[in-house]
Amino acid sequence: MLKDFLEGKPLRHPLHPMLVHFPIGLFILSLLLDLGSLAFPSTPSLVREAFYAMLLGIIGALIAAVPGLVDYTDIRNDHPGKRTATAHLTLNLIVVGLYGINLGVRSSTLNALTTPVGPLILSLVGIALLSVSGYLGGRLVYDEGISVGRHKRRTPTPENTLHLTRGENGEAVFVPVPEAESLGDRETLRVEIDGQVIAIVKLDGNFYAFQEFCTHRFGPLSEGDFEGFDVHCPWHNSCFDVRSGKVTNGPAKVDLKTFTIETRAGKTGIVLPRERKES
Ligand code: FES
Repeated sequence: MLKDFLEGKPLRHPLHPMLVHFPIGLFILSLLLDLGSLAFPSTPSLVREAFYAMLLGIIGALIAAVPGLVDYTDIRNDHPGKRTATAHLTLNLIVVGLYGINLGVRSSTLNALTTPVGPLILSLVGIALLSVSGYLGGRLVYDEGISVGRHKRRTPTPENTLHLTRGENGEAVFVPVPEAESLGDRETLRVEIDGQVIAIVKLDGNFYAFQEFCTHRFGPLSEGDFEGFDVHCPWHNSCFDVRSGKVTNGPAKVDLKTFTIETRAGKTGIVLPRERKES
């Protein structure tokens, strides 16, 4: 429940990218006030205002860090964006630490007419690191699809990929997936069978299987939302009918590959086409 809130599900908007605007704006404001104090030393309140803008910035950063941490822990370890996210997190911690030191140094010079050189340099370094971290945050969203769309999903998303094999000689085309039987309605599984990644969903008591990666830009469909028989890609909202794989809404133009799910001898599994033998 708390995790859902921190992922922004009640607002249907991810929380962390929304909240970070406040500390970024406040830290920039603090620097502008510092520069203002140098340009207009006859206005004594500027140094004090820069201090309070920084204090609010730190508070805002700590608040924004909480949903950020939840988003971070939600990234699969095998996701290529995990390293970028770790760098983003580390830089943010350094930035907040630097601003904390900066605030401590400033607290004894609140009545100065101009911001002293030491805190000013710390602010410049803070803004430079913040810019790099912001760039990494943008890459996480635009390149890696982190924080995109997960807030829309009401049921839990699969934590891990199940690795299965179709058996010897490529002849065993029925691959049992017993884990599917414990799925709740609209819940998904992600399985990898000999290099092929497939999503399985349970809708109204029936199972459907389709290729995991969206035909638009490879968004993870096992993390998508479901409406009727449509899966909504979490990245750019392409929709596909899971029964036929047909695109029902763009930007995707190419249909999904679907797979047959059957129950044999009481076991639920995927029926895969036979592998073609090289002659
Ligand atoms: S990756 Fe763009 S809609 Fe799926």
